[in-house]
Amino acid sequence: MYQIVITLIAVLYQTCDATNYIPSVNLVNGKKIPIIGLGTYALTSDQNVMTKVINEAIDFGYRHIDTAYIYENEELIGRALNEIFQNNKTKRDDLFITSKVWNTYHKREQVVEAMKLSMNMLGVDYLDLALVHWPLAYRSGTGSLRPLNANNMTDDINISVVETWKGMEDAYKLGLAKSIGVSNFNSQQLTLILKEAFLKPVINQIEVHPYLSQEKLVEFCKSNSISVTAYCPLGKATKEILNDPVLTDIATNNNKTVAQVMLRWLIQRDIVVIPKTSKTNRLSENINIFDFQLTDEEMKSIFSLNKNQRIITSTLSANNPNYPFAIPYRR
Ligand SMILES: NC(=O)c1ccc[n+]([C@@H]2O[C@H](COP(=O)([O-])OP(=O)(O)OC[C@H]3O[C@@H](n4cnc5c(N)ncnc54)[C@H](OP(=O)(O)O)[C@@H]3O)[C@@H](O)[C@H]2O)c1
Repeated sequence: MYQIVITLIAVLYQTCDATNYIPSVNLVNGKKIPIIGLGTYALTSDQNVMTKVINEAIDFGYRHIDTAYIYENEELIGRALNEIFQNNKTKRDDLFITSKVWNTYHKREQVVEAMKLSMNMLGVDYLDLALVHWPLAYRSGTGSLRPLNANNMTDDINISVVETWKGMEDAYKLGLAKSIGVSNFNSQQLTLILKEAFLKPVINQIEVHPYLSQEKLVEFCKSNSISVTAYCPLGKATKEILNDPVLTDIATNNNKTVAQVMLRWLIQRDIVVIPKTSKTNRLSENINIFDFQLTDEEMKSIFSLNKNQRIITSTLSANNPNYPFAIPYRR
């Protein structure tokens, strides 16, 4: 019976408009975020490639794009989107666009400015989701987005995450973002914000993949009605992870690829995924994850691969009092 239902879903998925079958995660403010989005960090610096990839992504059913001021690609994405809107391929309101406020814009009054900069480059008059990219504040006005001090560590300034969050709330009230959230925040930093906030963060975007399962932090977020987006959901597709015997076995048993199994493991935890690729076949592969189900046993085997192995460490900011990874991984 179970197999018949799964097969029926697969057939429907293949014969109908894919976008109808992309589930969403319900955010605490009543909005919905498509459970899969296109990651865009280091996707390309070529306009033609960006336009091609975004067009193909939309054809395959992606309706969610994850970018950030620091990726320095918002102008390219904006031009691609403008062309797509002009051609009536899709409407602005049918897309979910996330951007992130960079560390040099953490003073309350700078947050609105940062968001407007991103919106301008993207050519949109609102963001669906704006995130505080890191709980780390860097000195502004130095001409560098990653200013360094004499010790070659980041040139930090002391701004509390609560002040930056107030700037996020200001931007929300001005209508710049439909939802606001954070990224790379640990449980202590989330607790601080939850205490002071007029609006709760709807999402914490953090690194999650089979080698960094983040069970405790995900549980903490969920118990506070904060949804989770996984960045590096493919563990950057290193040889090690793509050839992991546990993952390859599960992939073979399900007639899927290791990348699809990694993404499926996350979405079955109700975690949003934003895999990045510029390759046509992988754009299709990564979204083709709604026609199979991992068993409880398979889910557990993947959890057992956890080794708290972080890819994104930001160690140049390790001396910053708000460095998020200084407390144990469990939080
Ligand atoms: N909030 C934050 O601080 C933060 C930090 C990091 C990332 N992010 C966001 O999360 C997104 C995803 O993370 P990420 O790009 O670092 O890592 P990722 O999505 O885990 O991995 C991307 C790598 O996997 C390859 N790949 C993609 N699909 C594949 C497939 N089906 N099979 C084999 N290889 C595949 C890509 O190569 P090709 O492109 O050559 O296919 C690329 O090298 C970013 O793009 C960004 O939007 C946020």
